[in-house]
Amino acid sequence: MFVEEKTSLAEEIELLVKKHGNNRSALLTILHEIQKKHRYISDYAQQEIARHLNIHPVEVYSVISFYSFLNSKPKGRNIVRICQTISCDMKGKESLVKAIERELKIKIGDTTKDNKFTVEFANCLGLCDESPAMSINDRVYTKLTPEKAIKLLNEVK
Ligand code: FES
Repeated sequence: MFVEEKTSLAEEIELLVKKHGNNRSALLTILHEIQKKHRYISDYAQQEIARHLNIHPVEVYSVISFYSFLNSKPKGRNIVRICQTISCDMKGKESLVKAIERELKIKIGDTTKDNKFTVEFANCLGLCDESPAMSINDRVYTKLTPEKAIKLLNEVK
C-alpha cells in the first residue's frame, strides 16, 4: 500500500471514529463502512481502527473473521457463495463447484484475475428444500444445475 493510500485511509478512519465514537461498540459499524467502500479491510486499516478504539488488532481481526460479509483480503466485485451444507451437498453441490471452477478457471476461495468474481463456500443459505443453492452478491438462487449456475454467472459478467 502506497503512503498516499495509507494517509487517505487513516483520515477516513479518523472521520469514521469521529462519526461513530471510539468505543468498542463502534467497531462493527466502522468495519462495515470500510468494507463497503474498499471491499476489504486491509492490515493497515485494522491496525488504525484498533489504535483509535484502543483495542488489540487481533480483536479487530477476529471480528472480521467471524462475519462472512467482512473480508481481510481483496475480493472480486461479485461474490459467489455455494452452499456446502448437507442438503445441498446431497443434491449436487459438487457438480456446481466443478462447473463453476471450470468456467471461471479458479478454485473455491480464489478470485478471478480480472477481479470480477470471488467464489467461496457458504453454510446453509436457508433454502434447503430447494437445494442445491448458491448466492451471487447476496441474492440466493436455488434448484440449480451446473448449466443454470453457469448461465447466472454469464448474466453477471
Ligand atoms: S443446506 Fe443448502 S440451503 Fe440449506
